[in-house]
Amino acid sequence: MPLLSKKARVRIDSSLCRGCDFCKTVNVCYSPSRCLGYLSCYYSCPFEARVIEYEDEYVREVTIYVDKVRYRVPDGITVAEALRYVGFEFKRPGLGEPSLACKTGGCWACALIINGSLERTCITPVINGMRIDTQVRDIEPRRIVHGPSPHIVGGKATPW
Ligand code: SF4
Ligand code: FES
Repeated sequence: MPLLSKKARVRIDSSLCRGCDFCKTVNVCYSPSRCLGYLSCYYSCPFEARVIEYEDEYVREVTIYVDKVRYRVPDGITVAEALRYVGFEFKRPGLGEPSLACKTGGCWACALIINGSLERTCITPVINGMRIDTQVRDIEPRRIVHGPSPHIVGGKATPW
């Protein structure tokens, strides 16, 4: 079994949580029962009630297919992490290639074809038997985003 060293996991500090549910209704988490450590809920909490902890963890392996090539990768990680594990290179944002611009599910710059549908690799848990197609050049964009720009309500910016 491979060891995922110092994996980030997020827990709720109940002394700070105000039960607003922002982290569940606005933030998107595709793995609520098992934290994958991609931290979108951590960054979304307006009361800083989400706490990051790092722990070593032994995990089993799962089989995935990337562009029809079979790989074994650790379970309990995102598709983006699994792709990097097998050598796939995300480019820097702005080049028109898949990138990890936000890593929290907000920008879709990391989206690839997962089991036949366009989906964000940075927030999708890797699952045994999953098929990932990295060729997305011919897909019609739903919107064009050229880069971040400030807005008046706080936060960092609109996404890439
Ligand atoms: S967003 Fe923060 S304060 Fe609100 S329910 Fe989630 S953890 Fe609690
Ligand atoms: S990097 Fe995945 S949605 Fe932004």
